[in-house]
Amino acid sequence: MNGQESNVPPPLAMLQLISGFWISRCIYIAAKLGIADLVKNEPKTAAELATACGAHASSLFRVLRALASVGIFTQDDKDRFGITPLSETLRADVPGSLRAFAMTELGEEHYPAWGNLLHSVGTGEIAFDHTFGMDIWKYFAGHPDNAKIFNDAMSGMTAQANEALHAAYDFAGINTLVDIGGGHGGLLTSILRRNPQMHGILFDSPLVIDGARESVQRSDVAQRCELVGGNFFESVPSGGDAHILKWIIHDWDDEKSLVILRNSHRALGENGKLILVEAVVPPGSELHFSKFMDLNMLVMTGGHERTEEEFRRLYEASGFRLNRIVPTESPFSVIEGVRV
Ligand SMILES: C[S@@+](CC[C@H](N)C(=O)[O-])C[C@H]1O[C@@H](n2cnc3c(N)ncnc32)[C@H](O)[C@@H]1O
Repeated sequence: MNGQESNVPPPLAMLQLISGFWISRCIYIAAKLGIADLVKNEPKTAAELATACGAHASSLFRVLRALASVGIFTQDDKDRFGITPLSETLRADVPGSLRAFAMTELGEEHYPAWGNLLHSVGTGEIAFDHTFGMDIWKYFAGHPDNAKIFNDAMSGMTAQANEALHAAYDFAGINTLVDIGGGHGGLLTSILRRNPQMHGILFDSPLVIDGARESVQRSDVAQRCELVGGNFFESVPSGGDAHILKWIIHDWDDEKSLVILRNSHRALGENGKLILVEAVVPPGSELHFSKFMDLNMLVMTGGHERTEEEFRRLYEASGFRLNRIVPTESPFSVIEGVRV
């Protein structure tokens, strides 16, 4: 479904769309202040919540009233705000929590970059770099608190998609799987857990690997998971018979993506498998997560989301044959290729 099929009168529908970012920013406030965790057991007034999280009570009330009007909290006749299925997703301690994702996407770096979307559209340049004077990866290296929120957000999104991924795709038969740009290892450890014979190598930039160390090492698959820091534009670890890259290639333009994929090709043996986990942009005007995530890439990294045909071309240009694309019950598909 898209906006053209709605029964809402066009001016009202347009007003709702225009004010969409007001909702987003209020979600950011709720996520940042940890409101969902504070009301998870019982409803609370804005005054009680303001005391607990250090906010201005009447302003917080206005934010929560607005969020209650779109189903994110309940509001009772004593103006106490309570949890709903939507705000459950913002609790810090639920599997696949979206709290960190809300904080990173709507907070201190993505949001200002989106404010300069017009700069990207006018010039083709990366709005984030224009806004902050450096690229996002350099920014995160110098802002460890923000980087932690970003990495937690990636882990939350990965946990969201894990079930759908495992239901759709069987990783059996792989001896050593290298997760390139694997962040804090949520995906790789979940695959190792389901495949007891498999070994894994988690590869990311050295700072991210340092951040992954504690949780991977106390996991039940620590003995089968090696941690390697490096730069995927220079090389990726050898020794794997399959490489997985989730949400990596969408960060980069074709030229840089080819450098990564050719490094993967070089490190893989004959018949090695290349498994990308990415959204595949559907043709036409169908509503799909990938179409706005594509703009997130435009403003944040200079990358883009790709169609099946665009993936096919990337595979061929880097020495792989695209075998099949397996959709999942999440925005992600598994794009499986083999080294030729
Ligand atoms: C969008 S995140 C995806 C993380 C993870 N695969 C996931 O889906 O949760 C991109 C990852 O690429 C890593 N990365 C960026 N540049 C890199 C580089 N030059 N070498 C190695 N890793 C890099 C980042 O640190 C980050 O973990």
